[in-house]
Amino acid sequence: MAGRRTAVLISGGGSNLQALIDACDSAQCAAEIALVVSNRADAFGLERARRHGIAAAVLDHRDFASREAFEAELDRTLRDARIELVCLAGFMRLLTPGFVEGWRDRLLNIHPSLLPAFPGLHTHARALEAGCRVHGCTVHLVRPTLDDGPILVQGVVPVLAGDDADRLAARVLEVEHRCYPLALDLLARGDLLIEGDRVTLPEEAEALVLHPLFTPG
Ligand code: GAR
Repeated sequence: MAGRRTAVLISGGGSNLQALIDACDSAQCAAEIALVVSNRADAFGLERARRHGIAAAVLDHRDFASREAFEAELDRTLRDARIELVCLAGFMRLLTPGFVEGWRDRLLNIHPSLLPAFPGLHTHARALEAGCRVHGCTVHLVRPTLDDGPILVQGVVPVLAGDDADRLAARVLEVEHRCYPLALDLLARGDLLIEGDRVTLPEEAEALVLHPLFTPG
């Protein structure tokens, strides 16, 4: 059975896009990556799409008079491609409440921190600065407030002595690549219960989303 038609929105390298493509190709995910949209023509993720024969579009936000005009075209592009689910994967544009509400409960984001800690930018440096012992990533449904919304999956990594922001970011990125396909699969299967800020998963999925990567001994 074909998976739910999913678009991935990127601005850069697209390593999370690659993880989603690989999971869908190997049937570990009940979705199909049917479209990649980048707001930057030089995003390497576009090349990843081409290599896999996935339709790709560039919508440069600088070509539009307003955020709303950009999003109207983005929305049209997604609907023309009969997209059902959308994943933000390093897409570095803020989306307006109008767009977000139009895709309510069908729009996922991955953020490189354990939300609600460290919304916004420079999450790894801020986690180090705060002296966190653990750090990680969050995949959540998007709501109009930045980096806010019902959480599906989180991945945890230790913060190790001698870490700098780059080393910590690389450790988090590895766990991002495991969390995002899992979250998309859960959403694509459609058996989530979303109530307010909370998501209840089917019983068998609860065990999957617990990754004890670091257990103090
Ligand atoms: C990822 O670490 C993702 O969590 C982050 O950008 C990176 C994209 O990497 N997203 C954000 O910071 C969004 N606020 P990728 O292009 O290799 O997937």
